[in-house]
Amino acid sequence: MKKDLGAKAALFPMPVLIIAAYDGEGNVNAMNAGLGTVCGKDRIVLMISANHKTTKNIHETGAFTVALADRRTMAVADYFGIVSGNKVPDKFARSGCHAVRSRFVDAPIITEFPVTMECEYVKTIDTENVYAVVGRIVNVSADEEVLTDDGNIDTSKLNALVFDQFQCSYRIATEKVGQACSIGRTVGDRPSDA
Ligand SMILES: Cc1cc2nc3c(=O)[nH]c(=O)nc-3n(C[C@H](O)[C@H](O)[C@H](O)COP(=O)(O)O)c2cc1C
Repeated sequence: MKKDLGAKAALFPMPVLIIAAYDGEGNVNAMNAGLGTVCGKDRIVLMISANHKTTKNIHETGAFTVALADRRTMAVADYFGIVSGNKVPDKFARSGCHAVRSRFVDAPIITEFPVTMECEYVKTIDTENVYAVVGRIVNVSADEEVLTDDGNIDTSKLNALVFDQFQCSYRIATEKVGQACSIGRTVGDRPSDA
């Protein structure tokens, strides 16, 4: 029997995205975000609060990076989500992570994270229901260890974290259980040419 849980955002999985940007003096800051997704081939949208240090930095420099957190970077990913650069100016230095400047945009790549999207700021959407930063992905850099032989990202090697908002926990997404755009062909009474 089904139970009603009330009005809640019952979405799972959510990503564990680490958004990084420089401030006007070239200092790195980074934050954790679960409310982000791609919206097109090379566009990304991040629902991040206007008062976060990272959001202010993005508006200041016009660029940011978005890294995928993995099992190895879990603790520091969480740290980026519970400490603010507004209160702790050396937040990034205290994380123990390292960063290099992207060759494509004026934003830092955190070297400890396996996959990073390098983005230029496009616009901010500020309406009654949504506050979001939109970016254009101009490059993806990835550690060789998480790639297939033909240079694509291999999620079975990535050990990417997903955020479980119900249990406020991090989980790992690795196991392949089916082929998308294919397994559905085994279902239903479909004409053979459909
Ligand atoms: C798992 C997790 C997910 C989060 N997702 C978001 C999010 O989607 N949007 C947001 O504005 N803040 C989110 N936060 C909160 C920010 O990461 C947090 O406020 C952070 O301290 C902001 O850092 P900054 O002020 O240094 O930029 C999340 C935090 C955690 C731990």
